[in-house]
This record gives sequence, C-alpha cells and structure tokens, in this order.
Amino acid sequence: MERTLSIVKPDGVKKGVIGEVIKRYESAGLKIAALKMLWMTKEEAKGFYIVHKDKPFYDSLTDFMSEGPIVVMVVEGEGAISKVREIMGATNPKEAAPGTIRADFASDIERNIVHGSDSPQSAQFEVSYFFSELEIMKA
Ligand code: RTP
Ligand code: MG
Repeated sequence: MERTLSIVKPDGVKKGVIGEVIKRYESAGLKIAALKMLWMTKEEAKGFYIVHKDKPFYDSLTDFMSEGPIVVMVVEGEGAISKVREIMGATNPKEAAPGTIRADFASDIERNIVHGSDSPQSAQFEVSYFFSELEIMKA
C-alpha cells in the first residue's frame, strides 16, 4: 500500500470544498489514514515547500499557504501518489482535465485548491512533516 500527503489549501477551505475533495478520493477507492486542520506560519510553509526555494513563486506561494487554515491528510491505497495527482488535475487549472478538482474549483495556477505529493520520496518527507507514525491509522 502506498501513502501520499494531500492538502486542501486555504482557498479550498474558504470555498467550502473540504468534503468534496475527500469524497473524490474515497470514491476512487482511496482511504483516509490521517486527517487534521491547522494554520501554518509563513516559516512552516517555507519548510514544507523547501524544494521550491529557488523558484520565483516561492514567496507568494508560502504567503498563500499561510493565509488561512488548511486540511492535511494521509491518503492510502494502491498507486495513491499518482491516483491523487490524477484526481487533482494539472497545476494550472486552465490545463487541468475536465472533471478534476482543479478544473472544477481552482481560480489560477497558484490558488489551485489542493496539493498532492509527487514521488515516494516527497510523500515520505511531507507525511512526516505533519504526522507522527502514531497518528496514522493502520489498515
Ligand atoms: P502541489 O505541489 O501543490 O501539489 O502542486 P504541483 O505539484 O501541481 O505544482 P508544483 O510545481 O509543485 O508547485 C507547487 C505550487 O506552487 C504554486 N505555483 N505557482 N505562479 C506559478 O507559476 C506557480 N507555479 C506553481 C501552485 O500553488 C502549485 O500547486
Ligand atoms: Mg508539487
């Protein structure tokens, strides 16, 4: 079983689509193994997105990610990493396939509703950024 970290970003929480995001993962046969709401500081957001520290959008992205509460979750299942990214859609909602979360709800390339880990390495880093082993339910 594979684990991935998904986030309903501050824009998703404000738009009231927490339940919608979870429903789409569960409908695809994925399990929620851990879940919580929290409000990151700017420093915490910078640590989470450290891989993007040299990108031009790093400052704006970390401002956005710390502007309000988020919902972080561990999503589990066969091929969970790629399944979640498929359900999310492309980073830019204009390029996201119809029926994906970003095509349906995102307003632009930054305010794009959800996050999903992009590799087993990033999933491990990101899951452990928010959850201890004890907080993750075993199937
Ligand atoms: P995520 O990490 O949030 O799941 O998104 P992703 O893999 O699809 O995209 P990534 O390249 O990792 O970028 C992380 C987040 O940064 C914001 N972004 N802004 N202004 C821009 O050109 C730009 N590019 C990316 C988005 O919020 C993106 O999800
Ligand atoms: Mg990414």
